[in-house]
Amino acid sequence: MRTRTILVAAVLTAATTAYAQQPEIKGDAQRARERISLCIGCHGIPAYRTAYPEVYSVPMIAGQNPAYIVKALEAYKSGARNHPSMHAVARSLSDQDMADVAMYYGTAAK
Ligand code: HEC
Repeated sequence: MRTRTILVAAVLTAATTAYAQQPEIKGDAQRARERISLCIGCHGIPAYRTAYPEVYSVPMIAGQNPAYIVKALEAYKSGARNHPSMHAVARSLSDQDMADVAMYYGTAAK
């Protein structure tokens, strides 16, 4: 009986942890390929980092945490973060697009 309770508790804990780490919308790095043509002009192509050095004022986003990228894009979209070109870019992205590009950049070139 005791073992069973512990087992149930362990399963519940694992399930809750996994759930908490899931973003609401799941990004698809593959689908992001249609979108990233918008970004690479400024943020560079992740796999070619050394061949195309970044302009210093454009932050490196490849390898960033996907959740961080989504948060940043939402902030540019809403105007909470103020940057004219990123605002224009973020405005053109749906929540799904943001999740996709975040997944792409977050999992690329690590
Ligand atoms: C016209 C150039 C340009 C384009 C196009 C562009 N960005 Fe940016 N991006 C910038 C600049 C410049 C900043 C820094 C702005 C600031 O100082 O807040 C930035 C900031 C960001 C940040 C915040 C990074 C951080 O470390 O806080 C993210 C995330 C980001 N861009 C993602 C994207 C994505 C995804 C795309 C394509 C959908 C994109 N950007 C397209 C120029 C661009």
